[in-house]
Amino acid sequence: MRFIVFEGLDGSGKSSLMKALEQELEKRSVKFIRTREPGGTPLGDEIRNMILRKEGPAPVSRAELLLYEASRAQLVEQVIRPALQNKTWVLCDRFAASSVAFQGGGRGISENDVHTLNSFATGDLKADLTVLLDLSVEESRRRRQGRGEANGESEDRIESEADSFHEKVRQSFLKQAAAEPKTWLVLNAQETPAQLFEKLLAAVQQRGLL
Ligand code: TYD
Repeated sequence: MRFIVFEGLDGSGKSSLMKALEQELEKRSVKFIRTREPGGTPLGDEIRNMILRKEGPAPVSRAELLLYEASRAQLVEQVIRPALQNKTWVLCDRFAASSVAFQGGGRGISENDVHTLNSFATGDLKADLTVLLDLSVEESRRRRQGRGEANGESEDRIESEADSFHEKVRQSFLKQAAAEPKTWLVLNAQETPAQLFEKLLAAVQQRGLL
């Protein structure tokens, strides 16, 4: 079993790529679950709502980080570790690298502090592969706006941050990927869904994960 994480700016196409990998795993009769952060557990879903809604009290940066970490701790212990122990693959929409990128890069909390809290929350669980769907901030904004107009949803608290915030988030993801090329895969999110899936599948096979 494998633990595969998908990261990227909002609108980078994580969901579609995850769906394509799920279909491949189904074809091969590989057991898997799909989950997401923040959320994935009843407590995590409540935390998600607290952090992302625009109404109500806004957490300060350190409180925001701790809320993401609380959701993560709950998800790792109640969902991810039990699944892996049960020989089930776990596909996760965002994980610890998002806290490094958004709360470290974006909000300016020291990366060391974020790493320390990530290890505490996860008990040092690491993904076998983190797939980064890299996208420019302009394209991310364009896609987010398009999605908002299509389904009538307004932006959440993080999405409504300035472009300069999202640029720092993007750069942090790229830096994390460059630092650990063996466990990260960077894909250009502007490619077609078919191209992206082909590259993901090739990488997963080359790395002996499937
Ligand atoms: P996501 O579920 O990808 O958003 P959406 O449902 O709009 O596609 O992620 C929720 C938001 O939370 C996203 O803007 C990134 C942010 N986030 C952090 O700031 N830190 C974190 O540690 C995580 C996991 C997410």
